[in-house]
Amino acid sequence: MAKKIKTFFACSSCGSTFAKWSGQCGQCGEWNTLIEERAAPAGRTKRQGGPAALPTPLAEVANSTDMTVSCGIGELDDVLGGGLVPGGVLLLAGEPGIGKSTLLLQVADRIAMAGRPVLYISGEESLPQIKNRAERLGLGSANLAVLAETDWPSIEQSVREVNPVVLVIDSIQTTHHPDWPSPPGTVGQIRECAQALIDYCKKSNAIGFLIGHVTKEGAIAGPKVLEHMVDTVLYFEGERHQAHRIVRSVKNRFGPTNEIGVFRMTERGLIEVTDPSGLFLSERPEDAPGSVVGCAVEGRRPFLLEVQALVTPAHYGSPQRVSTGVDQRRLILNIAILEKICGLALGARDVFTNIAGGFKSAEPALDLAVCAAIISGFQEIPIPSDTFVVGEVGLAGEIRAVPHIETRLKEAEKMGFKRAVIPAGNKKKMEYSGDIQTIAIASLTNLIKVIS
Ligand code: TYD
Ligand code: MG
Repeated sequence: MAKKIKTFFACSSCGSTFAKWSGQCGQCGEWNTLIEERAAPAGRTKRQGGPAALPTPLAEVANSTDMTVSCGIGELDDVLGGGLVPGGVLLLAGEPGIGKSTLLLQVADRIAMAGRPVLYISGEESLPQIKNRAERLGLGSANLAVLAETDWPSIEQSVREVNPVVLVIDSIQTTHHPDWPSPPGTVGQIRECAQALIDYCKKSNAIGFLIGHVTKEGAIAGPKVLEHMVDTVLYFEGERHQAHRIVRSVKNRFGPTNEIGVFRMTERGLIEVTDPSGLFLSERPEDAPGSVVGCAVEGRRPFLLEVQALVTPAHYGSPQRVSTGVDQRRLILNIAILEKICGLALGARDVFTNIAGGFKSAEPALDLAVCAAIISGFQEIPIPSDTFVVGEVGLAGEIRAVPHIETRLKEAEKMGFKRAVIPAGNKKKMEYSGDIQTIAIASLTNLIKVIS
């Protein structure tokens, strides 16, 4: 009788494994993500680790913080909390076509320009294609080497020869490890290749970048499968038809998380945006009802944003509540509070909200701006364009204090704002002596009075 090949089912979204197939992943709840994969061959032992390493007294271990390597791009160094840490492995995840290869080729070149050997390994593009891109971007450091390869043992051999300070693998989904029986892009392959890279980087102190595509179809395992293995996870966000891109750190063993860097995609690659508030407010309409400026703090940085609301009569059964950029559940909650506490008749109205420029934030401090935009849209009364609004709204319609109020006020002052509606709880304690006139409110009912 032929020997049965052992298989298992892995979720391409979260990486959980199951003995049986089912339509929905029992772990993360995603549908149609379980893919059959071949199990590791019988008798396969754990990776051979070479001679056992001896423990070192902690006091004698060298400090790594002085060895941080700059990416050569300030926005990215800030996102990483200073720069790259030797031996660290970073995952850059994002949708296909968003600009991952472009950004990392630029980073690779900048680091190489600083005199460090860098190896860029692509399994997606041929060498002439990489060359084309590099020429378009105006890159060409002598220390930057490229390799078009997908097979891990060949990659490892080249890496050992070049001994780079930084290596980039573009992408993890195209890399293949012969020790693992399933094809490239499966959960097992992705983990096997990533582990091989992590082992190499930890031993050689090289910095590894992994590019991972986020896919919705589920046939290719996504970067989530790797999040717990790598040191740093960066997400590349943005709309393909818009020029700007956001890099967000969602995990960082060596620095703060949730830091954001803003870039603009141009003819000559990605350019840092050092004044994101200016960018997000650049197309703000003057005196338009339903538009108000709020302020979100992501990581340590304030971003002034235009929150828009469109309030129209609902023509079908239940009214629509659609949110782009702001958290959908917070939107529904804010609408319910506006109805109950302020008596706003939104029951027969569709409400659409949007953060201009494709920025996403779930910060509760945006609640008040969302409410102000809805009130303004509903009453068709514009909010003065020199006013910005910040505060968290509680279920009883009370306005709650928000963190970093001084940071937000200073950013608004820099952008030329004259008035701010802020929580009363903040006004009592804050240390702000700038030029912005602050109007403190304690309840949502007061908001209607101050903005109408
Ligand atoms: P790319 O880095 O290939 O995306 P990813 O690696 O995430 O799949 O970027 C692809 C898009 O970026 C493509 O639509 C073209 C655009 N682009 C520019 O606008 N300017 C440039 O200088 C480059 C290199 C790409
Ligand atoms: Mg690419």
